[in-house]
Amino acid sequence: MDGNGRWARARGQMRTQGHLEGLKAAKRIVKAAADMGIRYLTLYTFSTENWKRAAGEVNFIMGLVRKYLRGELDFYRENGIRIRHAGDTTGLPPDIAAELKAACEETGNFDGLQVILALNYGGRDEIVRAVRRAALGGTDLASATEATIRLFLDNPDVPDPDLVIRSAGEFRISNFLLWEGAYAEYYVSPVLWPDWTEKELRAALEAFGKRERKFGGIVP
Ligand code: FPP
Repeated sequence: MDGNGRWARARGQMRTQGHLEGLKAAKRIVKAAADMGIRYLTLYTFSTENWKRAAGEVNFIMGLVRKYLRGELDFYRENGIRIRHAGDTTGLPPDIAAELKAACEETGNFDGLQVILALNYGGRDEIVRAVRRAALGGTDLASATEATIRLFLDNPDVPDPDLVIRSAGEFRISNFLLWEGAYAEYYVSPVLWPDWTEKELRAALEAFGKRERKFGGIVP
């Protein structure tokens, strides 16, 4: 969800204001995705590297999660949205980890769009934690296959993403879904995240529809 800072700067506002608008955009896109019948949507909300930002900005983003994550329960219920988490819960402030757990439990039976909040998430970190979990559980890592590692990822039942969207014109992976995104299509939009509406999501899906997916093979 890139471009919150630039959106704010362009208006002479604080970066935090950009994150607040980014939160509103996230709600618009979640609603649009649910209405379109999309099954899974992962929002890269806070990376394992984002702790390097100024304390005030970090606290503000965590404050948004604290205030709105469970505050939107009616919205999740009305739209059948199930909340899930990807990332390292042990590195989160304990109250945020508890909020996440509660939101996941409270929405666990909803059968519409699954929104996976990537919070304190890093693709490399996820793979390291998966290997550690496997080893701690007694898995024979010397004979591990791709399927073995996959079993220990944060959400092994969630299918690999078909499409990874990046806003604000950045052409980088930035440690996002490194394992799962191996064969995803990538789409970069110049539009800053706070300006995202259903229109931008539709444009991304339209571009995706024109891609020829080969998964390393050839198209007959
Ligand atoms: C990246 O833009 C954005 C973030 C690191 C924070 C994203 C978080 C939100 C939108 C809050 C959402 C909360 C929930 C619960 C979904 P940037 O700050 O790097 O922007 P810049 O590249 O223009 O500086």
